[in-house]
Amino acid sequence: MSWRIKVPATTANLGAGFDSIGVALDLYLFIKVSASDEWAFVSHSKHLHDIPKGKDNYIYKIAKQVADRYDKGALPACHVELFSDIPLARGLGSSATAIACGIELANLLLDLHLSDHDKVQIATEIEGHPDNVAPAILGGAVIGHYEDIVQYVKVDVSHVSFVAVIPDFELKTKDARAVLPDTFSYSDAVRASSVANVSTAALVKEDWALLGQMMNQDHFHEPHRKALIPHYEAVKALVGHHAYGVYISGAGPTLMVLVDEAMAKKQLQEWREAMPEHEWLILQPVNHGIDVV
Ligand code: HSE
Repeated sequence: MSWRIKVPATTANLGAGFDSIGVALDLYLFIKVSASDEWAFVSHSKHLHDIPKGKDNYIYKIAKQVADRYDKGALPACHVELFSDIPLARGLGSSATAIACGIELANLLLDLHLSDHDKVQIATEIEGHPDNVAPAILGGAVIGHYEDIVQYVKVDVSHVSFVAVIPDFELKTKDARAVLPDTFSYSDAVRASSVANVSTAALVKEDWALLGQMMNQDHFHEPHRKALIPHYEAVKALVGHHAYGVYISGAGPTLMVLVDEAMAKKQLQEWREAMPEHEWLILQPVNHGIDVV
């Protein structure tokens, strides 16, 4: 028994699609699983240097939760090696990749024959919203809604690039959610939802210029969260006229630049030199989600 599970990172919200829209990117968590006498998690990634090494590892906990859900008892012990290019707590879906891996691990070990939809449902129940877990499992862009049952549409994404501007500090999703308002007036909700609706239509039609314009008009979270991200205005000012749009990736603190691929390549060096304190990474959307080989 030996498997390799590969899960893509994700960028969620895309501006106004708060808790609903996410896209899978070509940055991965990869695990190698083999049978063993006891559970062990070994990291080969600088991003995962102090992870729990036994049954307190998050991936194990998720797999156990799935085993309990299907009343399957104990999971056979495994040696798990982890390789990850995804920085933690930066708004690139690292938790979602771990959740997806844990679900897939239980699926394989217990022969559960889970469908993609089952995996998305379980993962969404665990994370509370589908915008990272759904694209991690399905690939592409996923527009989702969750209230007990998760409902979604997946669309393929092409002909656009994402440049991640990754700062060297972490921002916990819990803290980034704590600054959001509890309520919204009716008129604000109508305004915010119309921006989100046009964003969705623009995404489906791959009208990146229109999606970029909508990103800049989000009312759901960016006006509240930008204070947590000191480089927010400076990055927007630097890349603004070269890009379709800029938004907070997931809960931040990474900012994501939506841009034409040729323009990203042309500008990258200049942007890096202007703000060398951040990591600048060109990422491509991927239309394939979690994979087992
Ligand atoms: N939609 C979520 C948020 C993504 O913005 O809080 C991060 O988990």
